[in-house]
Amino acid sequence: MADFRDVLALAALPAGKVVTVTLDGHVIGLALLDGMPRAFQSLCPHDKASLKDGRVEGCEVHCPRHFARFDLGTGRVSAGWRVNDLKLYPARIAGDRVEVDAEAVRQNPPDGAKKVWDFT
Ligand code: FES
Repeated sequence: MADFRDVLALAALPAGKVVTVTLDGHVIGLALLDGMPRAFQSLCPHDKASLKDGRVEGCEVHCPRHFARFDLGTGRVSAGWRVNDLKLYPARIAGDRVEVDAEAVRQNPPDGAKKVWDFT
């Protein structure tokens, strides 16, 4: 069952930008697609760059590190990349606020940060 939670003022989500919010301890990316909010994992599935530093063009978010592109409508990665698609979460506008489905995030949590070996 959906559990939509208030995460951000709609006015704080400018077109062409990615904004991150924390929901139940998970960092979620938000961007506008045709005026509607899209919620997705905030770290790139390729090498875990923060998509917060990326840009949104058309229906895609562009990763700032190696420039893979992910469709914000489907999560699909651009051609030529052998990485997982971007995890998407239901989001909606409620008045002048953005809400994200926390239950969907719990069911399919975003990928964590890149694991780095620690030999100490
Ligand atoms: S980290 Fe995003 S394309 Fe490599």
